[in-house]
Amino acid sequence: MSRPRILIARAIFPDIVERLAAHFDVEANQDDVLWSPAELAARMADKDGAFTTGSQRVDAALLAASPRLRIVANMAVGYNNFDVAAMTAAGVVGTNTPDVLTETTADFGFALLLATARRLTESEHFLRAGLWNRWSYDMFAGAEVHGSTLGIVGMGRIGQGIARRAAHGFGMRVLYHNRSRLAPALEAECKATYTDKATLLREADHVMLVLPYSPEAHHTIGAAELALMKPTATLVNIARGGIVDDAALARALRERRIAAAGLDVFEGEPAVHPGLLEVPNVVLTPHIASATVPTRRAMAQLAADNLIAFFDGRGPLTPVNT
Ligand code: DGY
Repeated sequence: MSRPRILIARAIFPDIVERLAAHFDVEANQDDVLWSPAELAARMADKDGAFTTGSQRVDAALLAASPRLRIVANMAVGYNNFDVAAMTAAGVVGTNTPDVLTETTADFGFALLLATARRLTESEHFLRAGLWNRWSYDMFAGAEVHGSTLGIVGMGRIGQGIARRAAHGFGMRVLYHNRSRLAPALEAECKATYTDKATLLREADHVMLVLPYSPEAHHTIGAAELALMKPTATLVNIARGGIVDDAALARALRERRIAAAGLDVFEGEPAVHPGLLEVPNVVLTPHIASATVPTRRAMAQLAADNLIAFFDGRGPLTPVNT
């Protein structure tokens, strides 16, 4: 019997390519060429499965061009690059990589919060530019993190990890907003209080976005929401581009209507809104919240495990269209 054919759409750990090649006939993009949708579709035409990252869109057009396709394993917990309804209608299973990146991503959320509130990159640029010639009482004085109020929008696994760090590690008061309220035991463990979004935005000293992207979540934070925030507040987005209206945020930062922002994700990334590049009070990172070597390995392993389990007949391990 012929082996399933798999497309690995982006470069990944070479030993994981080898592992997949032990099970499948593999076409691997180890040169990491950024294929256009048409090039991707041409390569998918004879494939039974695919290994993707968040940067390949799996939509009705790609599915129509992939008649043999049965599974797409995304190396990401987020899967807004999938049109899940179209995949389900076409009988294609989608999988993601939950759990393995939760704590690492929560660590990064905190790193970005601290860097933003304490003006880390702004002060480093100042030092590297040779501008530091004396100590002064208000130089790069930022916002307090410990003991302040954190508002978390999106209280899934990563949001809960952030809440634990905030409440237990930094003595913060934690407010959260989510589609549904957590069970009382989980709320108690996270020391988090459920509230509506407007109250959260008004009361928080720092707002952290950790919700998945969906059309309903588009511009969850726009001009009206930014106007509710304290002028001393910071906004951190480790969720997805498109959840924040980046143009409105750039204006709010320029006009100091909020104090600062920390952004790991952007509308239309890898492009970044030019207004964000112009203001000093924003910390910008290139979508690296899950980027530690062990975590990226675990994500790649889980995506590979999904393909292997599916074609072994054991079923996908972490399907998203159940
Ligand atoms: C995820 O897992 O969804 C991340 O954003 C990709 O690293």
